[in-house]
Amino acid sequence: MKTDELPTPALIIDLDAVERNIAKMQKFVTSRGCNIRPHAKSHKSPFIAKKQIAAGAVGQCCQTLLEAEALMLAGVDRILLTHNLASGPAIERFLNLKKNGEIMIIVDGTENAEMLAKAARHRGMVADVIVDTDIGANKVGQQPGEPAAKFSRWVTQTEGLRFRGIMGYEGHLQVSTPAFEERNAKAQVALAGVTKTLTALKELGIAPEIVTCGGTGTYNITAGYPGVTEIQPGSYIYMDRRYGEIGPAGTDFEKAMTVVGTVVSTPTPTRAVTDLGWKAVGIEYEAIGVGGMPTPMLPGLKYSPGGDEHGVLNAEEPKYRPNVGDRVKFIPAHCDTTLNLYGTFYGVRGDHVEVACPVARR
Ligand SMILES: Cc1ncc(COP(=O)(O)O)c(C=O)c1O
Repeated sequence: MKTDELPTPALIIDLDAVERNIAKMQKFVTSRGCNIRPHAKSHKSPFIAKKQIAAGAVGQCCQTLLEAEALMLAGVDRILLTHNLASGPAIERFLNLKKNGEIMIIVDGTENAEMLAKAARHRGMVADVIVDTDIGANKVGQQPGEPAAKFSRWVTQTEGLRFRGIMGYEGHLQVSTPAFEERNAKAQVALAGVTKTLTALKELGIAPEIVTCGGTGTYNITAGYPGVTEIQPGSYIYMDRRYGEIGPAGTDFEKAMTVVGTVVSTPTPTRAVTDLGWKAVGIEYEAIGVGGMPTPMLPGLKYSPGGDEHGVLNAEEPKYRPNVGDRVKFIPAHCDTTLNLYGTFYGVRGDHVEVACPVARR
């Protein structure tokens, strides 16, 4: 099947570019003496996860239990769930996954950790945990240094839990700080929090096996940072408009994700309307004022949403306006949320469709 024969709207993944991105990231991280456990929230796909692991990744991170289940049931057997669980049934499902391989989860307080420990004890099991630390995102996580170390000690002393290490994900510094020098300076401040926790842990005689940090915007800062054993970037495999604008990720990694729509109406000489509405492309960045519209891969056109199933293309001049039946490709502003809108992506090489791949568990 040819790419041009795909029904639209469609999510297209350039597999050659994905494989180059995976190989490039792996080579870099290895050269820094670090591991990579890529984040599956960007792809939600055992097909892509297995490519990353075959290239040398030590497993996968997941953000939802559903992602972890989808990957593990498909044979991906080393997973870190980077999200807290806070309900009995969810914890039961998490513990069930231990049958399929190594599954770890973050904890950031005695409340959620005790829920987990209790369920594990009840089943005669031990849950592998990573202590999450807040290194500046002001979201979840123990405060770095002594608080995180003391909590880690509590974990080591709590029956039903096994302390494996710490996480410090600098989520506030990925695409939101475009200038590299500024991002680097802020990341050094954030990572000093990791160092502080490691020092405090050492004083308590606790040696973490895993220290995990870093995303696509900070991969070259965190990989090789003293004490960091692995990084967890996600978006680098597909990239998107926003990541494409920041250095060095924007030039280091290729844009591998496009969405394609068909022009279904040309009501005026400068307006074409496609079948690609906001059910087919993530535009949520618009809501926070950082530009969420997809970029048309044709000149002289600007996209604006026309509702659930329509996307309006305004042409600078009539000569740029596509015609009814023309297909238009776009680079999404955000790869993670765009992928989340599709049940299937089409993996292509050149203009040939190699695979129709289910997006596991949205
Ligand atoms: C905990 C965690 N780790 C890693 C990532 C991957 O980040 P990126 O897609 O920016 O590489 C995310 C993304 O939101 C995340 O929430």
